[in-house]
Amino acid sequence: MSALVSRSSAFSSKLEVLADLEETVRQFMAKHEEKRDNWYPSEFLPANPDDLNDSVITELRDRARGLPDSARVAFTINILTEEGLPHFHRLIAESLGSQTFWSLWNRLWTAEEDRHGNILRDYARDSRLLNFSALEEMQFKYIRNGFYPDWAGDPYKLFIYTTCQERATQISHLNTGKLAEGQEPLLVAVTQKIAQDESRHYAFYMNVFREILARDPNQALEAASSIMPAIDMPGISISNFNDYADVIRRAGIYGPRDYKCIIENLIHNWNIDVMTYLNEIGRKAQEKIMSIPSRLDKLSQYIETRSKAKSFTFEVIYGRILEMA
Ligand SMILES: [Fe+2]
Ligand SMILES: [Fe+2]
Repeated sequence: MSALVSRSSAFSSKLEVLADLEETVRQFMAKHEEKRDNWYPSEFLPANPDDLNDSVITELRDRARGLPDSARVAFTINILTEEGLPHFHRLIAESLGSQTFWSLWNRLWTAEEDRHGNILRDYARDSRLLNFSALEEMQFKYIRNGFYPDWAGDPYKLFIYTTCQERATQISHLNTGKLAEGQEPLLVAVTQKIAQDESRHYAFYMNVFREILARDPNQALEAASSIMPAIDMPGISISNFNDYADVIRRAGIYGPRDYKCIIENLIHNWNIDVMTYLNEIGRKAQEKIMSIPSRLDKLSQYIETRSKAKSFTFEVIYGRILEMA
């Protein structure tokens, strides 16, 4: 009974903090829209009736043929992550309410994110980069499987997760694009455009959580200490996900060392290391968070020293064998 009482009072105080953020969030949104570059996928790939220049597509396919398979594997996970948007729109609505001012942000964010999945999918189809039917099947399963992280419904945890996730996707898009440098400038441009959006989303979520930390430091740190040690990437329900993640790490696109950088930056940006006037719960959470970077360092070393050359194969890259060091 007492556990229920403290749980519900903790939750109602979180709702009060969320409600108190309305003015601040409206200002953050105005700033976000001011800085935003409102682009559309058809600016990158011909899509309108008067865009009948077939050579654009022929040349695109020629260039795309020369891309490494590791870039194709990363691109696959990048698309699926973006196409998981229904999961995230729902999680945000469930955690923040669909009838509150937060829905203004959820709708704006969803509209911006929707372009990411659209452009990547358009690119994959027009460039013939991937086995498209294999990709479609993966996408169908991923949406159908759902994504139900254990933090669902907790608004503080949502903001920590989304902050980390926006930075992780930014890194993944940018580094996938780097593998295309000198070979496929359109892919570089697309990944950079998406990464710019992710960077602005990251700033929004990070700033919101900073405001939460200022209003409710102990509960905010407790939430952060349960999310930050390890975030489940949204693609975790994709079959064979670990092999995809392994290729992406081996190709230098995204791995535990990148996650460690994300955590270190957040500790610094949120001033977690210098927070004082905490109660017992807050202090314990602070200590736990401060120990994450060295634990991630050890994990990275462990993975790297045990890692041996390995071959992979995925249907989405036409079943070709991919040898990775
Ligand atoms: Fe995105
Ligand atoms: Fe984003």
